[in-house]
Amino acid sequence: MTARIIDGKALAERVRGEIAEHAARLAQRGEQPCLAVLLVGADPASAVYVRNKVAGCEKAGIRSLRFDYPGDVAPAVVMAKLAELNADPSVHGILVQLPLPPQFDEAAVLEAISVDKDVDGFHAENVGRLSQNQEAFIPCTPHGVIKMLEAEHVPLAGAEAVVVGRSNIVGKPMAMLLTNAGATVTVCHSRTRDLAFHTRRADILVAAIGKPRFLTGDLIKPGAVVIDVGINRLTEGPDAGKLCGDVDFDSAVQVASAITPVPGGVGPMTITMLLENTVISAARALR
Ligand code: GUN
Repeated sequence: MTARIIDGKALAERVRGEIAEHAARLAQRGEQPCLAVLLVGADPASAVYVRNKVAGCEKAGIRSLRFDYPGDVAPAVVMAKLAELNADPSVHGILVQLPLPPQFDEAAVLEAISVDKDVDGFHAENVGRLSQNQEAFIPCTPHGVIKMLEAEHVPLAGAEAVVVGRSNIVGKPMAMLLTNAGATVTVCHSRTRDLAFHTRRADILVAAIGKPRFLTGDLIKPGAVVIDVGINRLTEGPDAGKLCGDVDFDSAVQVASAITPVPGGVGPMTITMLLENTVISAARALR
């Protein structure tokens, strides 16, 4: 079997078109959606993500405000900016790019963002709402994965879903979303004793571990849907310098029924969901 390749880029473009139309309607009514993005330090990957987020806003007709701080900035400076943005009615979404330098208490920063502007869905209250299957801002990467599975008509209710990775940004909210959709969910991680036992049972396998080409075809159930959240840059071997996922695509594509590529899979959907959350927040401001 050779798996169908799930085209995240095409889906993202389609959804972004709808978001741009919604943003234009809101702007006509005097509420142009606006996202504020804060970047602390000079992590090159974070700089690329922030640049792509700002560019995504521009293309969708969403205003963006970008605030850059040196890596040794005092946390109080960032907290003061968050308080200012929380109070500004023209700002609908606020995002602090992670990771933050060690002088920051990350949880305290995330909770300093107004719950109603927390378009990343990382505030403890939004996390709690999601865990109770209540309306909430949903973290963008796992939300994008669910949208892709829905667009591919992958049945979620009753499915055996295995999430490899337990981060607050992807693994845990992914598990909650799949649970809310009726899947039977297993979360695996670095301390899991027999990873293959779990992954080989998965109808839906989500890889979010940050290890290049870690999940090989022999760990995948024939016919499974494989979602690769990893974005790794290879540093050695014949493909040095290339991007790859957490799944060994060449062996997995022989076993799975559908698979997301890297790049061009989950990545484009992540920013799409951020734009959607920003537009939703602006629409709420008009109510
Ligand atoms: N760092 C890695 N992924 C993300 C994300 O989705 N949002 C933020 N704010 N930081 C990140």
